[in-house]
Amino acid sequence: MKLTLKIWRQKNNQASGKFETYPLDGVSPDMSFLEMLDVLNNELIEKGIDPVAFDHDCREGICGMCSLFINGEAHGPDRGVTTCQLHMRKFKDGDTITIEPFRAKAFPVIKDLVVDRSSFDRIQHAGGYISVNTSGNTQDANAIPISKHAADEAMDAATCIGCGACVATCKNASAMLFVAAKVSQYALLPQGRVEATDRVLNMVKQMDLEGFGNCTNTGACEIECPKGISLENIARMNREFLKASV
Ligand code: FES
Repeated sequence: MKLTLKIWRQKNNQASGKFETYPLDGVSPDMSFLEMLDVLNNELIEKGIDPVAFDHDCREGICGMCSLFINGEAHGPDRGVTTCQLHMRKFKDGDTITIEPFRAKAFPVIKDLVVDRSSFDRIQHAGGYISVNTSGNTQDANAIPISKHAADEAMDAATCIGCGACVATCKNASAMLFVAAKVSQYALLPQGRVEATDRVLNMVKQMDLEGFGNCTNTGACEIECPKGISLENIARMNREFLKASV
């Protein structure tokens, strides 16, 4: 395949960025999107040009690092996949592909396509995890009965990999889907109920402090989420927040 790549280049957070155009030949339809970028970077290095910086780690849809906005969509045109799971067969020979970083005030660009998503880490830290007093005869967590429905819903929420596609997709740069998934995965289980009130209040407070926008129910986040996190989690978080506030 022969492609034309329009890629956002930005030296650092202070510099203003711009699109650079790179032609790329010999792309296999079986390559992943990141492998295609590897090929481009090899060519750029051979020509003495600074390679394109992009985030990645697991390259199998687990870590949530590969945050690219491709042809106007978070993680590109496929559904239910991350950028590293996107294959070049989703594009046609001769295509022009526009590649940008995830854009949001709370995700400042570090370089080229790499953004700083530590705001997500701070939200999770604000919520805390599960405090368990292990002195004395603590009940074995596995001995606490949990309904199948609650376990399934908690597990579905826990599949959120924190990639930030929901924020990049939302016209308000809202992080509600991410925060709601994290609130839900604990709130649905008896072990997480103990600190549920503090958790939802602290996470929502931190989310607002980080500068994320509010949810106006457009539903774009659910469509672009590579893990199919449901909007129902946002409704659950709003209920949890209301209960905790009163
Ligand atoms: S590199 Fe880990 S999810 Fe894509």
